[in-house]
Amino acid sequence: MLIAGNWKMFKGPAETLAFCREFPPPDGVDVVVCPPYASLREAMATGLTVYAQNVHWEREGAFTGEVSAEMLLELGVAGSLVGHSERRQHFGETDETAAWRAERALEAGLAVIACVGELENERERGETEAVLRRQVSPLPRHERLVVAYEPVWAIGTGKTATPAMAQEAHALIKSLLAVPVLYGGSVKPENAGELLAQPDVDGALVGGASLDVESFTAICQTAARLSRS
Ligand code: 13P
Repeated sequence: MLIAGNWKMFKGPAETLAFCREFPPPDGVDVVVCPPYASLREAMATGLTVYAQNVHWEREGAFTGEVSAEMLLELGVAGSLVGHSERRQHFGETDETAAWRAERALEAGLAVIACVGELENERERGETEAVLRRQVSPLPRHERLVVAYEPVWAIGTGKTATPAMAQEAHALIKSLLAVPVLYGGSVKPENAGELLAQPDVDGALVGGASLDVESFTAICQTAARLSRS
């Protein structure tokens, strides 16, 4: 079971250090935090496993604002998210560029969590399966690849996919690519148990609730308890 905290554009170096010093990663579950680039070093100094939130496909070059896998590895970062829906919505990320990022990062030696998920109107139109197929199919098969199913309508909205909806999407993704699949979208201490108990839910990618030590700890403890049972 893997629980990853995506901090998005929250927590500068000082807040990151304070969080990581206070956060006890529970035994029996793999825990990762994904701080903004500016705070990666502080998070790593506390011994936690740290992923970036994005990574470029080139080693170096004229790509203002981007960071390469080699640079992250030099810093000691273990992995990266790619293809998050906020990158797709606001920064022009496509299925193709997300796959390039994943492929190159894996090749360089990072672990990758590749994010996929349908928009609300796509679900309403019955297109969820087609969207997931389109997003998952360009991803490379790799032992260090994990997919996160994050229905876009459930991100930061308090609307969570039902455990049955998550299970159905995860089973589809796994039929396309045999990798662990995390659920993301309004995961909280109150709903983590029923989501993580689904047979094809291998962990969670947590946004808002990962910013608070108490709620992130509670989610990690739930995952550890389920892993033991
Ligand atoms: P929330 O948990 O805040 O809905 O965010 C989910 C997410 O986008 C994680 O990557």
